[in-house]
Amino acid sequence: MIDDRFSCRSEAYDASEDIPTNSSDEATLGDLINARYNRRAVLKGALGVTAMSALAASPLALLAGSGEQGNPAAARFGFSEIEHGVDETHHVAPGYGADILIRWGDPVLPDAPPFDPNGQSAEAQRKQFGYNNDFVGYIPLPLGSDNSEHGLLCINHEYTNKEVMFPGLGKEGSCVTREIVDIEMACHGSSIIETRKQEGKWQVVPDSKYARRITALNTPMAVSGPAAGHPRLRTSADPTGKKVIGTINNCAGGITPWGTYLMAEENFHGYFLGDLENHLLQTPVDNDGGKSSADSKCVGKHPEKTNYARYGVPKRNYAWGKFHKRFDVNAEPNEANRFGWIVEVDPLDPASTPVKRTALGRFKHEGAENIVNGDGRLVLYSGDDQRFEYLYKFVSAGRVDPDNRAANRDLLDEGTLFVAKFHRDGTLTWLPLTFGAKGLTPENGFHSQADVLIETRRAASVLGATPMDRPEDVEPNSHTNRVYVMLTRNSKRNPDQADPANPRANNIWGHILELTPANGDHSADSFRWDILIKAGNPAVEGVAAMWNPATSENGWFSCPDNCAVDHQGRLWVTTDQGHNWKKASGTADGIWALATDGEGRGTGKMFFRVPVGAELCGPRFTPDSRTLFVAVQHPATDGTKDFPGFARASTFEDPATRWPDFNPEMPPRPSVVVITKDDGGVIGN
Ligand code: FEO
Ligand code: CA
Ligand code: CA
Repeated sequence: MIDDRFSCRSEAYDASEDIPTNSSDEATLGDLINARYNRRAVLKGALGVTAMSALAASPLALLAGSGEQGNPAAARFGFSEIEHGVDETHHVAPGYGADILIRWGDPVLPDAPPFDPNGQSAEAQRKQFGYNNDFVGYIPLPLGSDNSEHGLLCINHEYTNKEVMFPGLGKEGSCVTREIVDIEMACHGSSIIETRKQEGKWQVVPDSKYARRITALNTPMAVSGPAAGHPRLRTSADPTGKKVIGTINNCAGGITPWGTYLMAEENFHGYFLGDLENHLLQTPVDNDGGKSSADSKCVGKHPEKTNYARYGVPKRNYAWGKFHKRFDVNAEPNEANRFGWIVEVDPLDPASTPVKRTALGRFKHEGAENIVNGDGRLVLYSGDDQRFEYLYKFVSAGRVDPDNRAANRDLLDEGTLFVAKFHRDGTLTWLPLTFGAKGLTPENGFHSQADVLIETRRAASVLGATPMDRPEDVEPNSHTNRVYVMLTRNSKRNPDQADPANPRANNIWGHILELTPANGDHSADSFRWDILIKAGNPAVEGVAAMWNPATSENGWFSCPDNCAVDHQGRLWVTTDQGHNWKKASGTADGIWALATDGEGRGTGKMFFRVPVGAELCGPRFTPDSRTLFVAVQHPATDGTKDFPGFARASTFEDPATRWPDFNPEMPPRPSVVVITKDDGGVIGN
C-alpha cells in the first residue's frame, strides 16, 4: 500500500546546489601557470580592469577582438542603462515596455480550465502553462520565413518550488501527497504556444493547432542513437530500452536550422530516491506502484553505483519515487540512465513523439545551441552544469539539407561528441569520445559506444578534459563564428586548482570565455580561447574582476547563465546568482548588453532586472531584434532572507513578492515577458 503522506524528509530543491561529483585530478593543475596571465597576479586580483590593455596587446586579442573577424555593430548599444537594485517588481530601460505574455497556470491547450491556486490538479496543469520557464525558442511562421510578428514559442519548464506553489507546503515538516507529486510532474517539461503581434501588442493565439504541453507525467518519448535499446536503458515498463515517459529538469536548449526544438535535461539526479550501497533486488514493478522493498532481497551494491555516483544520483529533492516507482533506483535500477539527454521535438506537429538523442551524450546538459558549419555539418555546443564538469561539442556526420526538412530528421543520431581540454598557450583541443580509443576501452569499463555515452562524464575524465567553473549556456555567434561560454561560478575551486581557463579560486562571480575556431571551422580539433570578462565588482580588488574600464557601476554583473546574440551579432547575458546574490553582487538578476568588439570590448550595460528571488532565463530575439522574449523564473524564492524588509523564506501564504499579478489571492508566478521598444525600433539601438 502506498503511503499518501511523504516527503517530510525530502529536501527543498535548490537549483544553485551542485555538490561536485568529479574526483578527476585534472582539477589540481597547480603547475598549469598561465603563460599569458601571471598566476600570482590572477590570485591577487591585479588583473582588474587594467588587464584589458595587456589583453589588447596579445596576439590572441588582436585575432579575436579586431581585424577581419571584428564586428563593429557589437561595440554599440544605444539604450540608457538601469540601476542595480532589488525590489518586488521588474525594471526595463527607459523607452522600452516589458509586458507579461504568459504566466504559470495560464491556458495552453484550448480546454484548459482557469488557474485556481487553491484548487490545483494534475489534470488542469497538464493543459496549463508549466512552472519555472527557462529556455525560450522562437520559430517564425511560416517555417523558413523571418517573420518577426508571428511565430511559435518553445518554452522549457525546468523545476518546481513547492513552498510557494501550494498552500501549507512552506511549513517545516509539511508533507507531499500523490496529487502534489503529479501536479509537480505536470508542471515540468515544456509549453509550445503560438504568438502573434496584433495592434502593436504580442498575444498568445488561443485555440492554436500547435499548442502543446509536454510533461514528465505522461508524454511518451522515443530513444534513438547509439545507446537506444542498450540493456542499461531497459526497464520493467520498457524492455526495449527505446521508450521513456517524460523529460525532467529541462533547462536551456536550442532550435535547429530545420525548425525543431531541443530540450536539455539538466539536474536529473534530484528526482531519484534510493540507496546505492544496499541495493535490493526486486521483482519487477509497474510504473505506478507494485512491489514494495519489503518484498525484496538484498544483493549488495547497486549495479550502476559508479555511474550514478558520478551524476549525484540519487538525490531525493523530490518525492516522486515514493509514488512512481521508476524514480526509485532500487526498484527500477536503469531508469536514471534514461535521463540526462537532449530531447528533440517537432513543434510543428503536436502529435509527434519527442526523441532523446543519445549521440549527444548523457550529462547535466545546460543547453544545445548550434550552428551550421561551413561544410554543412551541424555543430552543437553543450555545457555540463556542475562544478568541475566539462564543455562539449557534437559534430554531425551528415550535412544539413536546407531544402528538405525530412532529410534532417535523424541527423543528430550520428556524429562525434568531443570534450574540451584547455591549454595555457591560449589553444584548446577537442577530444573525441569514441569507443575503443584513448582508454575508452573494456579495461576501463567501456564495452561499446553506448557505454561511453551513458557514462559521458567518466569517459571525458579518462580523456583528461578540463574541469570548468560550471558551464552554462554556450552560444555560437554566426556573425563572427566566435563562441561564448557562460561559466556561472564555482565556490569550491581552491587556489591550487586555478588554471588558465578557470583562473580564480572561490569563484563566486563566474566568467565568460570566448572561443575562436580557426577560419571559422567549428568542426576543427583545435580552437583558440580567451577570457572576455571576469564577473563581479571591478571596484573591489579582491574580486579580481575584469571589465572594460568604460563599464559603469551598474554595468557589471555576476554569475552569467544564459545568453543570446541579436541580429547584429551583439551579445546579451542573463544572470542567475541563486541564494548568493547578496555576496555576488547585491543586485537582482537581469540581462546586460555586453560589447565583444572594438574599444568597448568587455563593457557591460544593464538593460532589465527581475523581481526579488527570481533569475532571468530565455533570452530570445525575433529575427529583426525588435522583440526580446525573456523568462522570469522562480520569483520570490532565492535568497529572500537577504531582502531588506522581508528577511525570511517565502511561502505560498507569505511570499517576498506576488509578482506579476500583485493580487493577494495569487502566489508569485514564473512568466515569460516580452520586451519591445516604445518606438518599435531595434532593441538596444
Ligand atoms: Fe538550469 Fe544550469 O541552470
Ligand atoms: Ca541555466
Ligand atoms: Ca540557472
